[in-house]
This record gives sequence, structure tokens and C-alpha cells, in this order.
Amino acid sequence: MSTTTTPPTTLPAREATPYVGSALDRVEGLEKVTGQARYAFEYSPDDLAYAVPVQATVARGKIRTVDVDAAVKLPGVIAAIWHGNAPRLAPPENAELAVLQSREVAYRGQYVAVVVAETLENAREAARLLRVDYQVEEHDVELRADHPEMYRPERVNPAYPADTEQGEPDAALAEAQVVVDEIYSTPAEHNNPMEPHATVAVWDGDGLTLYDSTQGASSVRDTVAPLFGLPPGNVRVVSPHVGGGFGSKGMPLSPVVLAALAAKHAGRPVKLAVTRQQMFAVTGYRTPTIQRVRLGADTEGRLSVIVHDAFEQSSRIREFAEQTATPTRMMYAAPNRRTTHRLVRLDVPTPSWMRAPGETPGMFALESALDELAVACGVDPVELRVRNEPDADPESGLPFSSRNLVACLREGARRFGWAERDPAPGIRRRDGLLVGTGVAASTYPVYRVPSRATARAEWDGTFSVRIAATDIGTGARTVLTQIAADTLRASPERISVEIGDSALPDASVAGGSMGTASWGTAVVRACEALTEELDRRGGEVPEEGLEVSADTAREVGAKRRFAQHAFGAQFAEVGVDPDTGETRVLRLLGVFAAGRIVNPKTARSQFIGGMTMGLSMALFEESVMDREFGDYLNHDFAQYHIAACADVRDVEAVWIEEDDPHLNPMGAKGIGEIGIVGTAAAVANAVYHATGVRVRDLPIRLDRLV
Ligand code: MOS
Repeated sequence: MSTTTTPPTTLPAREATPYVGSALDRVEGLEKVTGQARYAFEYSPDDLAYAVPVQATVARGKIRTVDVDAAVKLPGVIAAIWHGNAPRLAPPENAELAVLQSREVAYRGQYVAVVVAETLENAREAARLLRVDYQVEEHDVELRADHPEMYRPERVNPAYPADTEQGEPDAALAEAQVVVDEIYSTPAEHNNPMEPHATVAVWDGDGLTLYDSTQGASSVRDTVAPLFGLPPGNVRVVSPHVGGGFGSKGMPLSPVVLAALAAKHAGRPVKLAVTRQQMFAVTGYRTPTIQRVRLGADTEGRLSVIVHDAFEQSSRIREFAEQTATPTRMMYAAPNRRTTHRLVRLDVPTPSWMRAPGETPGMFALESALDELAVACGVDPVELRVRNEPDADPESGLPFSSRNLVACLREGARRFGWAERDPAPGIRRRDGLLVGTGVAASTYPVYRVPSRATARAEWDGTFSVRIAATDIGTGARTVLTQIAADTLRASPERISVEIGDSALPDASVAGGSMGTASWGTAVVRACEALTEELDRRGGEVPEEGLEVSADTAREVGAKRRFAQHAFGAQFAEVGVDPDTGETRVLRLLGVFAAGRIVNPKTARSQFIGGMTMGLSMALFEESVMDREFGDYLNHDFAQYHIAACADVRDVEAVWIEEDDPHLNPMGAKGIGEIGIVGTAAAVANAVYHATGVRVRDLPIRLDRLV
């Protein structure tokens, strides 16, 4: 930012160029690639100590004794903290946050103690020497659809009814000319952002500062403060840069509480880094699902009925009810429909958000079933989806503010070369591989929640925009700069966007694909108000600057008159080795309709990132439950496989123009999650086309093909 020696009394002339829609480089790109961007773990206040947790080694039981003697005798050890000596916390709404508060063990890997020491090495060694003795109880960790404790939750996330029904689905199934009735399953999957969770906790009297790797600074503050009996204003959460989250950093979980608690007990600033291995127990995961999908149609593939029953798990200590079957409520026309969710609470960690929670497993099942129906009816799978396009939201009857699924399917088919496709399975060979193509639809709801922002004009002709938004690698800081630039009609170089600090105006989390819509609305309103105020003053900025604020609570809270969702179409080509069953995704194409694309460069990264995660889900990702020990077996990248560069050949994402005036001032729908939705089904459908083998259980392992 250049500074003027003779400050202007009025603002420079405004520019007319729209920045929204341009491929602006990441505004913090240089900081990131030169290592100057500071992440949570890199904050090192004076007098820092290190915390290393101890995790339960039984899946269910009670802690009988904790022997800290050997641990605390080690040099450099400051404290060994367990439920017997831990600071008391106010009972949290989310029981996962009641860290070291009782002798109950609810799952293997749960925090049972923490050691604080002068160095990481001291702490790690002491944690190893700590002895915890358990009174072991029988555990139950296995998800089964017929589990006797299956129940219907009151709601599924975020607040949908668990079950819905229209018409007479059972009668319609009995009468349908063609019926598909299959069971699909998806495994537990663990979030693995590049930067594991980390917190540096610093107490100053009754004030607490948390340098935390989170998707939402305001939310961490509001959750952690009451645990320690503090008003929110006493807690500050700083998170200017975050190396991914995919939902696992979307709600505060036990690590941040453990760090704050350890720092309080030790009377020292404490650094706690969750290791990759620990992430497999304490930072959430995608629930495994078992899903029965029943479709009834005429011989032309016109659906008369859809029934989607989802079975999933939660923990003993918290109900987390994922919204697996919700996309089935709005995807396709059918006069008869039922969706249900059933949940069983097991001795496992509580599942949490993982990129497009609900839509991702749900659309694997629905879009696989659609492909099976296409085969059964002899109708092209693109055409089948077009035929079942609803005029309005099938459940609410509300019109869609925009719905361009058909355009995505058509454009994708054209670009992918779908027209030449012979539907017969298992007949194409190329380079010794069985080759096939598949398609699946994609969708994600449009959410928006209230946020606040301030906009400030400085005396030197620059602006600052402040909002407690988070950039988890998505480009949030960059798109907010573009949005502010257009509203202020000033070039991005003159605007600094400050985010990632709960001391800034309150903002929603970077989750639910609603960041740009939620924060962007607040930024637009603040910048509009500033522009008006400047106009009133004839463009003059007072020497101390001019600041205005905006709160979008009322605007965002208005009742919706439209159904609002983003849509997409995923096309996959796979090659399957007929001898080994090894599957390679040769090509992936995603075509999306997600409103106005604010930044094509960062948007493309979001889309292809989501699609890559979908490819990974299709072929590799699987957390395997060990019934005996009651824990997921694979706790690292050696055993939990994620698509590597060599697995990702040709992934491309494009979008169609979509002009929807009913969304928000930017006209944008969310794009962070839709890329993963439908991808695994497209791959599985392509595998069927290549081999004639229908894989209904993810991932598509070798042994499921040969
Ligand atoms: Mo996303 S799983 O809503 O952070």
C-alpha cells in the first residue's frame, strides 16, 4: 500500500471496473508462499509450554486411577492434568467439550489427561509414562441397520425433519412397472486438512487469547467463553490463516478446550498441536451410512416414487444426526416420496461435519440408484435425469429461484463426448483396461446467515473492511476484497480486508458453503453505507477516518419465497484392470450452476478440490472399525488412503452462467462443497459401465471388483 506525503482531503476518483467475476490473485498469496503467513502453531508467546494429551485405550468404561508420579518426576514437566485435578468447566451443550471433567470414557481415543512441560519432547515422554487404569465395560461400535437401538432423531442437521412423506409410496412401489430396490453403504471417513488442528492458549488474568486453527473465530469464542464462566468479550480467538478444515474445524471440538484448560491449570501459555494420528479420534469424521433406496418408474424411466431410508451413527455423549436423505427431497419429480433417518448411538467418537455432510453420502446412494434405473429401463442416464426434472421443489412446492441441472447435464454431455456412448457394460478395452463412463448429478443447498462488518475510509484514500470471517484456503479474503472493491468502486490495492480474529465484527463460520454469501452481504452493506456517508460529505474523509458498520440479521432472516440450491453434473471415465481390479479415474468433468462466480481462479480450485475429494472417496477413503478394540484401525496416511497426485489424472470444472437475482447482492451460491457431491456415484457408475459390476459399497476396492 503506497502512502501519500501530502494527504488528499477527498478520495481519488472511483473506478468503474467490476472486480467480482475477475480472476484476482489471492491477496495473501505472497505471504503464504514465502512463509510469512502465520498459522496457529506458529505463535510463540513468552514463557510458552507444550501440552501433549493422553487418550483413552478402552472404548467404554470408567477411569479407576490415574498415576502421574513417574510423569511429573521427569525434568521439565510442569503439570499432569486429569479429571481429579482439572479446572472445572461449566457443563457444555456439546458433551465432547467437557474435557477431563469425569471418569467416564465414552470412546477409545477420548482425552483422559494432558501433560504440560517445558518442551514438546518432555511433554511427550511424560504423557507416555502416565498410567491410567480403567474399569472396562462392554462396548458396541458396529453400525447395523437392524441395530435394536436404532431410533428416529427429532431433527437432522441443521434443522430438517427426520422423516418426510408425500403420497402413497408403498402403494406406488407395488404398482410401478420398474423397481430398483438396493442397499448402499458408505464408510466412516476422516477429515484430513493439510494443517492438523492446533491451538496456542494464553491466559492473562480472566482474559483468554486462543491462536486457533478454526473455521470460525466468533464461534470458538462464543463456545469456549461460557465453559470457563467468562463473558465472550474476555476471549479472543485469532486465526488469520488456516490450512484447510473441510468441516472438522467448523465447530470447536475438544482440542481447543484442552489447550485452554491446560494453560489455565499450568499458569503458562500452552501450545497444543493435534497430531495426524490423534485427528482420527478427536476432530470428528463423516458418519458411516447404510442406505436403502427404492425407485419406482414406468418403462420410460419416469419416476412415480422415491423412498430413501438412511441409517447412521452418533456417539453416546452427543447426538449428531446427519441429513443424509435430504437431497432426495428435492432432486427429482415423483408424486410419491418418503425419506427417513435412523440413528444409533454407539461407543464411538461423535461424527461431525465433513465436506457436504449429508449430501455426499446421500447422493452417492441416490445417484447410483438412478443409474441402476437407467440400466433397467434402457434409458440414457443423462436423459433419465432430464425426464425427472421437477417444475418446483417437490416437497415445499416453492419455485426454484434458479435450477440449471438440465443445463449442466447437457453442457457436460457435450463437452465430455457423451453422445457416442454405447450403454452396454464391460465391452470397451483400451491399453489393457476395461473402460467406461458414468454420470451423476450434484447439488448443495444455498445457506446464508447473519454477519456484521465495518468499512472504513482512511484519510490517505485507502479503505479497510473488517469482519471475523475465515479463509481456510478457499480465497475468502480475496473474494471479499473484490466484493468491497466493486461496492466502493475502488481498486483492490486500496482495500485491506481484515479477517480471522474474533475481535473483528462477528461473522458466521466458514462452512455450509455460505461464507461468501453471508460475509459478502455484510461487506456490501457496510461498503454501501460508507459510500453513502462519503457522498453526503462530498467525498471528504476526515483526518481520523470514517467508519460505518452493518449487521445483516434482518436482511438474512427474511422468509424465503424460493427453493435455493446449487446444481451440477459430474462425468467420469474410468479404466479398470480386469486382472487386479485396480480402478483409475481417467477423466472427471464437473459442470456447475452456482449463481455468479465471484472469482474464477479460486472457484475452479474449490470445484476441482471437491471433485478430487470425491474421487478419493470413491476409490480410497475408509476408516475401518476394529470391533475388538472399538476403534478405527487406520490412524495415518499409510493406512488411511487419500488420492495422491498420481491418482488424479484429468479433473476439470466449468460452470454455466446463472443469473439469479434472489440470492444476495453478489448473486452467488456456495461452491465449497458441491464439488464432492455426486462424484463418487459418477465414478461407481463408470465402473459399472466399464466392468458390468455394480459396487454399492464404498470405497471401490479391488476386492469388490474381482
Ligand atoms: Mo463444511 S463440512 O460445512 O465446513
